[in-house]
Amino acid sequence: MQIEPVKGVGSWLWDKEGNKYLDLYGGHAVISIGHAHPHYVKKLSSQLNNISFYSNSVINPLQEELAFKLGELSSYEDYSLFLCNSGAEANENALKLASFHNGRKKVIAFDKSFHGRTSLAVAATNDKNIQAPVNSDHKVCFLPLNDHEAFLDWFDDKTCAVIIEGIQGVGGVRVPEPSFLKLIRDKCNETGAIMILDEVQSGYGRSGKFFAHQHAGIRPDLITIAKGMGNGFPIGGVMISPSFKGKHGMLGTTFGGNHLACAAAIAVLDVIREQDLVNKAAVLGNEWIRQLSAMEGVKEVRGAGLMIGAEFDFPIAGLRTDLAYQHRILTGNSSNKNTLRLLPALTLLEEEIALFNSTLHKSLSKQLNALAV
Ligand SMILES: Cc1ncc(COP(=O)(O)O)c(C=O)c1O
Repeated sequence: MQIEPVKGVGSWLWDKEGNKYLDLYGGHAVISIGHAHPHYVKKLSSQLNNISFYSNSVINPLQEELAFKLGELSSYEDYSLFLCNSGAEANENALKLASFHNGRKKVIAFDKSFHGRTSLAVAATNDKNIQAPVNSDHKVCFLPLNDHEAFLDWFDDKTCAVIIEGIQGVGGVRVPEPSFLKLIRDKCNETGAIMILDEVQSGYGRSGKFFAHQHAGIRPDLITIAKGMGNGFPIGGVMISPSFKGKHGMLGTTFGGNHLACAAAIAVLDVIREQDLVNKAAVLGNEWIRQLSAMEGVKEVRGAGLMIGAEFDFPIAGLRTDLAYQHRILTGNSSNKNTLRLLPALTLLEEEIALFNSTLHKSLSKQLNALAV
């Protein structure tokens, strides 16, 4: 989009001409606690004035504080945390860890999955357009999401890992059924395969639970995180179950877990806790899903909490452009051309949702009239 944002506050952005936009996309689900949240700005500024970086060969107590707060808020107190810089890196390391752990190579991923653009993460991403020939040597097979039979057919004792998004994001906001996640958990338990939950987009409270897979009541072996974790500061991580034994050289990073990144991630967790944002995402988001489902012209609404995909009977490119340029509301698309993706800050207000709904209603009527001509 030809928009150049220069300032943000809460769920609002301003471009260089001074136009104001309602941001319902958060730059791909990254803005979790709103733009320029005062606590975040204060924490990062004061960290910058002290020390912004030193290598992982020295002690950095911020990493411990971050791991402790994350464990507590997510109910994964017993998991360890490896810190890196992005979602792709988190998945790359998770897949490596899985293979280090059981010595196997075969990976199961799912149709329409997106796990990142590094070598193994992109091999587990169901999009040939972003895979280079060098990525094709990895042993990854793609199965239809929620297809129990296909999964049982392909899963065997040579399977190293199953990687699945808590809710598929890029693929068009598709939710794995709880029974499907439970099946994967059970089969992995039987053979020692590793269950990796990619919560890069669906995590950090967005779905109305800290992690989307917690709606299914399962516990994966590895959980990958990024996006909302730093509210815009690049940081990612792998949460690792206690059954993994670390050995020297397994994981490493220069920038991962640096002081500034930790300060950003700690500020995000502080705000999520203080403003009760996980519960708010559940209440606000689920009501929003109900309202959108009842709107004329909307074919289907998928998702949970504030991770929402609204599908229409027509490609949404024109609708998105109208919302952005005529009404100054930013939304997202997905690999499914008919699905509008909503990934706002978890601090979104009820009146901002109401503004979007009435605008969508108007814009939708215009689109439907144009299509009818
Ligand atoms: C589910 C999921 N996993 C991984 C990634 C990759 O994250 P990054 O772009 O930070 O490498 C993304 C990015 O969109 C994602 O949506």
